[in-house]
Amino acid sequence: MVDSHNLIVNGSKKIFGEIYIPGDKSITHRAIILASLCKGKVKIESPLFSEDCNNTIQIMQSLGVRITKDNNNLVVEGKGINGLKKPTKKLDAGNSGTLMRLITGVLAMQSFESIVTGDKSLQGRPMERIIEPLKSMGANIISNKGKAPLNIKPNKSIKSILFCSEIASAQIKSCLILAALFVNEQSVIEEITSTRDHTELLLEYFGHTIERINNKIIITGGKDLKCKQILIPSDISSAAFFIIGALIKKDSNIIIKNIGLNPHRTGILEVLTKMGADIKIINKYMIGAEPAGDIQVKHSKLEPIKLSGEIISKLIDELPILFIACATCSGVSEFSNIKELRYKESDRIKSMEAGLRKLGIEVSSTENSFKIKGGKFGGGIIDSFNDHRVAMSFIIAGLISAKPVTVTNTLNINTSFPNFYSVLREAGVEIYRI
Ligand code: S3P
Repeated sequence: MVDSHNLIVNGSKKIFGEIYIPGDKSITHRAIILASLCKGKVKIESPLFSEDCNNTIQIMQSLGVRITKDNNNLVVEGKGINGLKKPTKKLDAGNSGTLMRLITGVLAMQSFESIVTGDKSLQGRPMERIIEPLKSMGANIISNKGKAPLNIKPNKSIKSILFCSEIASAQIKSCLILAALFVNEQSVIEEITSTRDHTELLLEYFGHTIERINNKIIITGGKDLKCKQILIPSDISSAAFFIIGALIKKDSNIIIKNIGLNPHRTGILEVLTKMGADIKIINKYMIGAEPAGDIQVKHSKLEPIKLSGEIISKLIDELPILFIACATCSGVSEFSNIKELRYKESDRIKSMEAGLRKLGIEVSSTENSFKIKGGKFGGGIIDSFNDHRVAMSFIIAGLISAKPVTVTNTLNINTSFPNFYSVLREAGVEIYRI
């Protein structure tokens, strides 16, 4: 576990060899929630054990589901679609927007009351985007001006939904799909931009029929899910730090094993390849309903890039580390349509702008866009703004900076990648806790 608040990177040898990344966070959250709605035992192999996912386990346990850890696996004794119990205390989603939004979809359809809250960062993130459509399904949610804590009142009558999301968000979509599972009528959920479809794939894997037409999901609830063992691939969003680390650090050559390659998540590989990266998928296979494979990455000279539109949702979580890659290119990179970045664990445009400036890089932003003129990294003390992906991004910048990079407030790394520090050290990076 990363147990110090500040980390210093004092350069690095080339990154070399095989790297193993922990399980996918998005899929782990969904696997725990959906397994809890199956009737019977579900074994989840190689889930992510991190603060965010531990909060999912604890919330499902508070709702009456028995979940035990068995080596590197979880065993969930699902209660069926009608088996959740009223919690006796507030449910704490910690730092996780995914957990809060997904679990609210489940809770809003129950006949008992619950309260979901989270840490300071999560209490500042927008929840109106799920509250409004859930209300149209009959939910009774009292929020703090559209934000958490959410007091979800018992529900007497629920109904289906016909909804098109203007915001490209898998969390909104998944929240509504989960809510629709409890309604005995047909719901239609559409998104204008397609986003990660782990919820849909996992539901189909558990034997639930879903019709998918373009960006439309048609689903009728009220049915039990079939118990089936699930294996979780490694998280491409966590792998991205090592992919870019290897690309920017001279002579590096790594193989990252068993990475989830869902096409809604591989935007980072597409974009880096366009930028000139030497990235190869050397082995591709299916893990349950999800594609996965090993990725080989070699040090490469990268060219700047201009990005906007649909691709953004395919690499939304990788933008901070992609900004670091762009800051090493000679030339200007430009990103637009990225306003959603302002609503993540921190305002990631603001956090990355502040940190890159400190490293000596010329950057500018608008509400919705970001521009980076590549250059050489100096060094210095960078605030992560308590955001795991910002912290990890600047630690990777430290691999090639002229002077050491100290990143402060890095505890948040535990939410998604608790062994980031040890994986870096094993890869040859000179990182220390201070
Ligand atoms: C996630 C969806 C994305 C992403 C988040 C995980 C998910 O959020 O940023 O880290 O698991 O559904 P949005 O749905 O808000 O874009």
